[in-house]
Amino acid sequence: EASDPDLVERARAAKAALGERVFILGHHYQRDEVIQFADVTGDSFKLARDAAARPEAEFIVFCGVHFMAESADILTSDDQTVVLPDMAAGCSMADMANINQVEDAWEQLAEAGIADRTVPVTYMNSTAAIKAFCGRNQGVVCTSSNAEVAMRWAYDQVGGVDGDGKVLFLPDQHLGRNTAVLQLGLALEDCVVYDPRKPYGGNTPEELERARVILWKGHCSVHGRFRKENVDAAREKVPGINVLVHPECTHEVVTGADYVGSTEFIIKTLDAAEPGSSWVIGTELNLVRRLANAHPDKDIHFLEDTVCFCSTMNRIDLPHLVWALESLVAGDVVNRIVVDEQTQTEARVALDRMLALPA
Ligand code: 13P
Ligand code: SF4
Repeated sequence: EASDPDLVERARAAKAALGERVFILGHHYQRDEVIQFADVTGDSFKLARDAAARPEAEFIVFCGVHFMAESADILTSDDQTVVLPDMAAGCSMADMANINQVEDAWEQLAEAGIADRTVPVTYMNSTAAIKAFCGRNQGVVCTSSNAEVAMRWAYDQVGGVDGDGKVLFLPDQHLGRNTAVLQLGLALEDCVVYDPRKPYGGNTPEELERARVILWKGHCSVHGRFRKENVDAAREKVPGINVLVHPECTHEVVTGADYVGSTEFIIKTLDAAEPGSSWVIGTELNLVRRLANAHPDKDIHFLEDTVCFCSTMNRIDLPHLVWALESLVAGDVVNRIVVDEQTQTEARVALDRMLALPA
């Protein structure tokens, strides 16, 4: 739907008034009305890498969700201010793991005698406190763009993928399982799910001992909705269609797809696709709609029939962006994201390990 021309003009004017003082980052799941004002768009890896690209910018306005803005605060200098236009833009997956639960789980793994052979790997979609936990405990951060290399790195710290070391993967069980099984060649039976509400995560100490991958019981409420039946229905409707999904989808959906990857991968795959080819895409709807508009020469479908936006990504709308920018013009910083010093220092260790991984 078209955005309010008055608000578009106000956003343009406020951005122009701030000039080089502001740097606007936009995740691919953002609304069109917001993404048009981003200086850089990307998946969460690219945005983490690019957050520090404008050290001279006083303000970083992050059009994405809370954990991404926290990472931007960690990765930029102390005199740069990060603003999230709506504080309610959280992530239901990141909310599925809090630091106290993770510390408890780590104690239980120590009781089971395996913590010293376990490397924590946290998906970017987690709080800064959990990234700091990984920094303190020889762990690493990953995104959907580099989960395979990050997990290999983690196993290398404890004797390699073929040894008896383990990975505790937080908080997305699907990305953890899909990466371990489809990219590292581990077996489905090597994976256990850790439910933080149950002793030993709902496993016996022996089951934890046998496991190679301990998957936190978290998932994405958007990607978790796609079903294998949606894939089958798409193939039936359009014979020869290419199925392209995000690795936050369930293992069944991912194994039923032809291509799997991060939002950046999805965009590049469609850029390289043959004109006339047919695609069905399993990711957030703002991005799928934008791709369909950008590729009128390709036949692009959404994997599910119902509307599938990420409701928290969508909280960043044009009125919030205008409010944040106009406040900055008026000398008033609203919705500043600040990660405390100690958390920053420890989380930075885990983020830097990720940024140092081979591409
Ligand atoms: P990427 O940006 O890594 O593709 O992840 C998608 C996502 O769900 C972000 O919240
Ligand atoms: Fe979180 Fe999923 Fe939304 Fe990404 S798409 S912000 S993982 S709820």
